Order: sequence, then C-alpha cells, then structure tokens
Amino acid sequence: MRRKSSCLVILLLSLFLALPAMTAQSKPVDAEGHQWWQHAVFQEIYPRSYMDSNNDGIGDLNGIASKMEYLKWLGVDAIWIAPAFPSPQVDFGYDVSDYEAIDPMYGTMDDFTKMEKRGKANNIGIVFDFVVNHTSDKHKWFLESSSSTTNPYHEWYIWKDPKGANKPPNNWTSTFGGSAWQWNPKLNQFYYHYFYPQQPDLNWRNPKVKAAMFDATRFWYKRGVVGFRLDAVDTLYEDPNLTDNPTLPGKNEYGDQEQERKYNDKLPEVLQALAGLRTVADEYSAVLIGETWTDNISELKAYYGAHHEGLQMPMDLMFTQLKPLSAAVFRKHVEAVDGSGEWPVYVMSNHDIKRAYSRFADGKHDDDIAKVMAGMYLTLRGTPIMYYGEEIGMKNNDPTRKEDVKDPIGQLGWPEQKGRDGERTPMQWNDTPNAGFTTGIPWLPVPMTYQTHNVEAEKKDPNSILNFYKNLLALRHTNPALLDGDYVAVNQNDSNVYSYLRRYKGQAVLVVLNMSGIPQNVSFDLAKQGFSNGEAKTLLSTINGGETQKLSGISLPPYTVYIGEVTK
Ligand code: GLC
Ligand code: CA
Repeated sequence: MRRKSSCLVILLLSLFLALPAMTAQSKPVDAEGHQWWQHAVFQEIYPRSYMDSNNDGIGDLNGIASKMEYLKWLGVDAIWIAPAFPSPQVDFGYDVSDYEAIDPMYGTMDDFTKMEKRGKANNIGIVFDFVVNHTSDKHKWFLESSSSTTNPYHEWYIWKDPKGANKPPNNWTSTFGGSAWQWNPKLNQFYYHYFYPQQPDLNWRNPKVKAAMFDATRFWYKRGVVGFRLDAVDTLYEDPNLTDNPTLPGKNEYGDQEQERKYNDKLPEVLQALAGLRTVADEYSAVLIGETWTDNISELKAYYGAHHEGLQMPMDLMFTQLKPLSAAVFRKHVEAVDGSGEWPVYVMSNHDIKRAYSRFADGKHDDDIAKVMAGMYLTLRGTPIMYYGEEIGMKNNDPTRKEDVKDPIGQLGWPEQKGRDGERTPMQWNDTPNAGFTTGIPWLPVPMTYQTHNVEAEKKDPNSILNFYKNLLALRHTNPALLDGDYVAVNQNDSNVYSYLRRYKGQAVLVVLNMSGIPQNVSFDLAKQGFSNGEAKTLLSTINGGETQKLSGISLPPYTVYIGEVTK
C-alpha cells in the first residue's frame, strides 16, 4: 500500500515538475501549432526617446506606460525595450552595471511593475534587452575582476598577459575602433572588449558566468517579462588560443587595418550558450529574439538550432542591408529566407541602422515608399519587428556638426561615421515644440518634419502612413491567410512589381507592390494556384480602385500597394 501511494506521489510530482516545460511548448494559438509570438507584431522602443514623463529630456518607463493604449490601437502585441538597466550610459545603456534593477533615469522597479501591468491590460508583452556579451566596466563583477588576478571574479572576463613589452596579446580590433585590448597597469594585464573599452567581454567559458547570466533572465521572467532580445550574440566566444585574425586589404572608418573576424566572431560555441538561455526561457514560455548578424541563409538557419533548441526569433538583419529598392532584390531575398523552412523574423531598421524611411526615400514619393515597404514586410510569412516612429514616417536626423554628436562612434569616426543619433531621435507625438516628447530639452533634436509627421496629425488623416499601418496590422491580426498562409511568389519575372500570395486552406490574399517610380499595369492568372475567379476583393490598397479588382489588369501608380482576397 504505502509503496504504491509513494509511487503515485512520485508520478504526480514528476508530472508536476514537467509541467512548466510542457506548457512552454503546448500553448499553440492556432491549428498550425503556432506560438503566440508567431502571431504577434513586435515593436522596438528606444526608452530614451519614446516619451519623457518628468521632462528631464530623457524618455522613461512611465512615459512608455502612458502610451500602451496607443500601441494597442496601432496593433502592437509586444514591445522590445532597449536596455533601461543601471548604466554609466557610455553606450546609452548597452553598458550594463546591474542586470537586476532599473536605472533611476528611467524610473524605479515600481515603475517597471506599473508599466508591465498596464501593458498586460492592453495585451502588450514586455521584452527586455539582454546584453549578453559584455557588462559595463562599472559592473560589480568587473570591479572585482580587475581588483587582483587572484580575485574569484578575475576569470569572469578575458584577461591576458602582454605579448612582450606592453604589446596586446593579438591583433584583434574593436568593432568600435582601435585595439580590442585595454591595458590595466595595476594587474599588468590586458582585458578584451569587442565594443568600447568600457564594455569588457564576459568569459562565457566560465560556468559561473553562464549560471549568473541565466539567473538574470529568470529574475525578469518572474516579474512578467515575456522574452528577451539578446544583444550581440555573435561575439559571445573567442578562440581560447587567441589566434591572430587574418588581415584584409584596406582600412576601416576608424583607420584600423581591416580584418576577417575569424577567431572572435560566430564561434560554434555560441549556439550552446543560446540553447542554455533557451532552456531557461522555456521554463517561462518566453521568447528569445537574437541580434543575429549573418552573411547568408545557412548562418541564419543555424541560429534556430538544428533541433530548434536555439533562438525562436533570430532577426534577419540581412533584410536591413538590401538595396536598391527593387522587386527583384526583395523577391530574391524573401524567397531564400522563406524557403529555408524556418519562421522568418523581418526587421527594417533599429537603433543601430538608418531608418528605412530615409534609406529608400527618393525625395518625391517618400510617404508612398514607406507604405510600400510596410505593405511588404507586414504581409510576409513570419514575425515583423517594427521600429518606433516607423509607423509615422520618422526620418533619420543625422548630426551635421561633430560637436553635436552624442554617440561615441560618431565622435571617433567623424565624418565618415556619423554615429547612430540620427535613428534615435524623440518620438513625434504632436506638433507642439519637441513633438510633444518633452517640455524640457530633448537629449537629441527633433527633425522639422515632426510638424507633419506626428501621431496626432496622422491619426486624423485617413491617407497617412499611420493609418495605413493601423489598417494593415488590423488585417494581419484577423485574416487567416496572412496569419497562417504559405508564401507563394507570382509574376516572378516582373522587375518593377513584387507580387505574392499568402495561401491558407483554399483562401488566399494577393499582395501587389509597385516598387518603381513608374506607373505599372499588371495582370494575374492564378488558376495554377487554384484561384480562377479572375477577381479580387480589395482588403487594403493605396490605389484608387473599387471594392473588387479584375485581375486581368491592375493599374498601379508609382509606389503603390494593392492587397486583395482572391477566390476560386
Ligand atoms: C548591439 C546594440 C548596439 C550596441 C552594441 C554593443 O549591437 O544593438 O546598440 O552598441 O550591441 O552593446
Ligand atoms: Ca525622463
């Protein structure tokens, strides 16, 4: 008897223990087994620049909280907030001095909780940004680490004796300019930093580092964070022998000899670390997004893990480098990403990348082009991550004088490298001074286009970029073909108009994008794809057409979008 019941207890207990892991994988939101993040639309928010609640010129968590209703109205399901942890702000928060607190400049732990609750009330999840590669040099781990070579934390970072008289251990350069090695005269050793000297690289080969970092993610999952965007994952590991990188011809924008980062970038061990973070994420049904810089599809594919033990959402950052704006360029890339068999994650810009609005603007059709780009990447199969302000057509506002530059890489690389201030300017809420972001002095200046491109004005204009985004996101959240359908390219030889179907169980949505500055006339024969009716029911478009559209001839003015449902 006793034995039996104890067996039962053990059985129940083990079932109970297995439960969190099971729920992580077993809450599909549709018949395809998709997880919540596959139906979600994400948006990156740069907290310094979103909304300033106390008018010190810097955005904050209370500011973000006050905009949750706006985000819901827009159709955003989750926000990735760039680091708001305590930081000396050398790299504007990407130099973290405490992973388990909020920087007073952004608010308090209570403010975080309030923001998280207000997000939840509006069905908006909070994704935090986890800087995995390095800490700030003011983090207590590094202060300990640099106090003596025998301190237990010494092995938490990458320290190395000089090679000869004060010579760095090898030829590795920092991606932010200069040697990747910083001399510490007290210890007579160098430490390694892939980014700024104030951002020493953690030693991920040390199991204690791993455990501490895993725990930092648990800290936030327990407080309601639904996932992380993992910063700079490519550079987590270095060759233990510190082999010199092969040099390449030419100098970069900082005047350093170009090199192939063979021994300190994308080492195979990276995936193991990500899989470890994923195991923890699965305990909380959380999602991991990666800042994954890849050169080709197989590198991108690798980040998901051969058995999907890696990141659920490695960003396709190759997508941000595509140019020029052309049907052929985007068609070719999407075919390759979609064809990889994984769940694509499309991104057009972020706090490190010039805004898409400015990248593609031709000076004549700027707003129309912004709608074409949205019409494309918000209708593709996969999860999109928007960048704040993209939905109102915010442009890059690059500094014109070196003395105005805030981003250190802009100061270092001027004028070739102007830094990233241009894509980080305050969100444009209305046409009052500083675009309603602050009544103080904003940390970065607002471009003059805020007078026309702001939330309040665009809400009132049915043809605004903002209303196009809002309508498109509403459609995307409700249309089964856009949620779950396959991607099927059509009219593949057209070099001006990019068209495809999203097809799901006998239903299909046709997306037609004139990516040229010349009027186009297109026709579709979709009988082969199973849709022979010859007509589409218009769902959303920027052309003047009726409720239905004959597929035998669609006239498209320059840079226009047509989205319609086709039937059998
Ligand atoms: C990532 C961040 C970037 C930061 C760098 C170093 O690339 O997106 O803003 O400067 O990592 O943390
Ligand atoms: Ca503030």
